[in-house]
Amino acid sequence: MNKIQIHEKGFEIFLENETISKRTRLIGIQLNVDYEAKCPVFIGVLNGSFLFMADLLKEIDISCEVGFIRVASYHGTESTGKIKEAFGLPDDLKDRDVIIVEDIVDSGLTLQYILEKVHAQKPASVRVCSLLFKPAALLQPIEELAYVGFEIPNEFVVGYGLDYDGLGRNLKDIYRAI
Ligand code: IMP
Repeated sequence: MNKIQIHEKGFEIFLENETISKRTRLIGIQLNVDYEAKCPVFIGVLNGSFLFMADLLKEIDISCEVGFIRVASYHGTESTGKIKEAFGLPDDLKDRDVIIVEDIVDSGLTLQYILEKVHAQKPASVRVCSLLFKPAALLQPIEELAYVGFEIPNEFVVGYGLDYDGLGRNLKDIYRAI
């Protein structure tokens, strides 16, 4: 499928699943090297990261822990910038190596909020792994953003975990709005 429609909006193919898989494999290899002999805690940010998190963790062969948090903050195609709350963040991150896994970093507001909560627990290290990153939309630099799948233009994308008004998360490829 090269073109799809969700509600009134048209989307065209942008990143095929095969391309995403290849990049994910490379990030996995890098993480295995960087965290060798450590036991990091991977924290996926729901809902958007669920597919990336699953595929990424299948590439990780070092000892690690895996969990998810949920942050409600986004509606329609524009970031509201209003973050409600983070649910489910573990409270035992002191001295741990934390890797936050995101679907996309847009304005970066969601991530800044999560990072503040994580740093407050004084972990040994905190890094972020995001499948997608829109540098042009970022409001403030994020030092912890160490692993990025693809830098993309400031356009709305859907699929592979990302939604448009709740729809499209199940698509195996990523599409961009036309
Ligand atoms: P930020 O707080 O502006 O960085 O937005 C982060 C969240 O907004 C992501 O985790 C996504 O859930 C959502 N988001 C940002 N850009 C897009 C997009 O292009 N498509 C779908 N969701 C997006």
